[in-house]
Amino acid sequence: MVRTLSPSNPSPMPKPIAPDAERSEGSAWGKVILLGEHAVVYGVPALAVGIDRGAVASAVKIDEGPCRLRLVGMDVDIAETDPDHDLGRAFHALLEAERAHSSRGMPEGLLVTARADLPPGGGLGCSAALGVAIARAVTSDASEERIRDLAMAWERIFHGSPSGVDAAVAFRGGCMVFERGSGIEPVRLKGSLTLCVGSTGHASSTKTMVETVARLRQRRPAIVAKAFDGIAALVQNARLAVEAGDRVGLGKLMDLNQMILSGLFVSTEEIERLCHLAREAGALGAKLTGAGGGGSVVALVSGGGAADRVLEAWKADGFWGFGTRIAGIDVPALATTETSL
Ligand code: MEV
Repeated sequence: MVRTLSPSNPSPMPKPIAPDAERSEGSAWGKVILLGEHAVVYGVPALAVGIDRGAVASAVKIDEGPCRLRLVGMDVDIAETDPDHDLGRAFHALLEAERAHSSRGMPEGLLVTARADLPPGGGLGCSAALGVAIARAVTSDASEERIRDLAMAWERIFHGSPSGVDAAVAFRGGCMVFERGSGIEPVRLKGSLTLCVGSTGHASSTKTMVETVARLRQRRPAIVAKAFDGIAALVQNARLAVEAGDRVGLGKLMDLNQMILSGLFVSTEEIERLCHLAREAGALGAKLTGAGGGGSVVALVSGGGAADRVLEAWKADGFWGFGTRIAGIDVPALATTETSL
């Protein structure tokens, strides 16, 4: 599982790609949705950031097929032909997408080893980060479109019809507005953002939570439409706040987003408790991040000291968490330190 870290001691990220003749490697960022989850599935923009921990993968040719996938630290070692395992099916879907496009053809046998520094089911984009890191390790084409295509083939096995925000952030990190169907707009941050991520201790299923909202939308379409309109307005204002360096304003918008998410029944007692503890300890705002129903909370804080106070408050109440900063292609300082498998 994820270690507790202070923001002054961020987890190093690997080099994005380091191919050589024998072995190719890939990496990807984890993500935090600052505002807009769930509504993003229905075309509302979301504001999301890459964080300073993620996933790494390497691929080496082996003598014979089928291709194999090993997930370090997760006790997974499966063949792409394993039909009983979601991971086997996802790996197969990703490789098939590569085979369909690759003009050079793929080797019959590949051993892919991957590791994620993110809790599965934690709302931090673990599966998308693995998908992007593996796609980068196995593809001969490093274009953003191809890698995101492969990662989406992988993601669909776990999430049905994901909006694509997780894979987009896993690919480039940084801060962005993502809109389903329209793609991404990088957002220029004024100053840095310090975030604390707190775990509820319960893994959540994105697929189940997206279905929960879909059912509510069927039963109460007008109410859910209003909630999504509200979230759209919050996201628009949050983008302006980020660009202006208005962290107090951003925190308030996150709190409002959490209220709307509670109204969509994706919050839980633990999520509310974590948000409450964070605000009491001085956070500028706090909300669930990802699908909810468990998973994680994100709290925006004013700096390292404030982060320590939030983390201590969570720990005193039996929760664990870590401080994190934004990382990604446009944030090179954290993107170039090496992590090995
Ligand atoms: C999951 O990280 C975010 C959701 O909005 C689902 C999606 O966008 O596919 C809940």
